[in-house]
Amino acid sequence: MAFDKFSSISQVLEKGYKIYIATQPMIFKDLTISEKLKPYVQFFDCLLEGNRDWYNSKVTELNKRVFGPQAMATDLWVDHHFGIACGVTLGFLNPSGEPISMGRFIKRFEENSIHEWTLLVDPKYEGRGLGKATVALECEFSKNKERISTTTQLNNNAIVIYLGLTNEGNPLELLAIGFHHTHPNSILAIVDIPKDSNSIIQKYNMPSIDDGILISEKIELKKGGRYLIQANNINAIKRISNDLKNGAEYKVIGWFSHSKESKEPLTMIEKIK
Ligand SMILES: CC(C)(COP(=O)(O)OP(=O)(O)OC[C@H]1O[C@@H](n2cnc3c(N)ncnc32)[C@H](O)[C@@H]1OP(=O)(O)O)[C@@H](O)C(=O)NCCC(=O)NCCS
Repeated sequence: MAFDKFSSISQVLEKGYKIYIATQPMIFKDLTISEKLKPYVQFFDCLLEGNRDWYNSKVTELNKRVFGPQAMATDLWVDHHFGIACGVTLGFLNPSGEPISMGRFIKRFEENSIHEWTLLVDPKYEGRGLGKATVALECEFSKNKERISTTTQLNNNAIVIYLGLTNEGNPLELLAIGFHHTHPNSILAIVDIPKDSNSIIQKYNMPSIDDGILISEKIELKKGGRYLIQANNINAIKRISNDLKNGAEYKVIGWFSHSKESKEPLTMIEKIK
């Protein structure tokens, strides 16, 4: 059996939701869709004129509603190139057939991996496991790829979802921080795609916040050390970016929406090298 009732995907499907995949036929063919999931999948060939209005009124509209207030909504031409022609747009449909979540990814040039560039859940449906299950779909349908990378922000609760992909020997590696993007606190992170459908995303055991040292100018960054970056601390972001440039390696190991020390979210990283 490809899925058991504990998988984050089946927990959503049991509620009567379906899966939509919007892309072009050549990419759809390359996705690893198990026989068990096929009956739940609705494919939208978005090279067809007939699906133009659907993508625009459902997916682009949902994207504008969620990311518009953050000035992060994409234009139609961006949706076409990265969400359809060279990438995949997918998510869950509610029982009325409306998209209520969306994950979009493309293939990375330099390795056999995918890069997720948008993830969202309709605000009315947040906090019910749909974000987690949508990332699980991206991984489930990309079993023929090795890794998944993503760009997010230090103050984004999505970090908790990506931590759920990790396990012993498969950390969420921090590749870059503070680069040219919508926010100065954006991070690029990468993790192996888990191969077991039943446990693609698991409940993550967050370390104690007391394990981490808040990064300030006085703090020395040592191998094995666990550090907390305040989401708005540009100096800390610059320091980590420079350390990465000089060959250091970090993994992301925790995320805390607030704490005694800070009203700003804190991301915990560990220096590996
Ligand atoms: C980020 C987003 C996709 C999460 O979707 P969601 O459906 O609410 O998330 P889930 O219900 O699947 O929750 C996933 C995990 O995150 C945890 N989580 C969510 N919000 C959290 C918070 N503020 N603090 C701590 N943990 C949080 C949940 O408890 C859950 O962990 P668990 O499985 O260990 O219980 C959604 O909030 C969203 O669309 N945000 C706006 C768009 C955005 O910023 N997208 C991310 C761009 S990278």
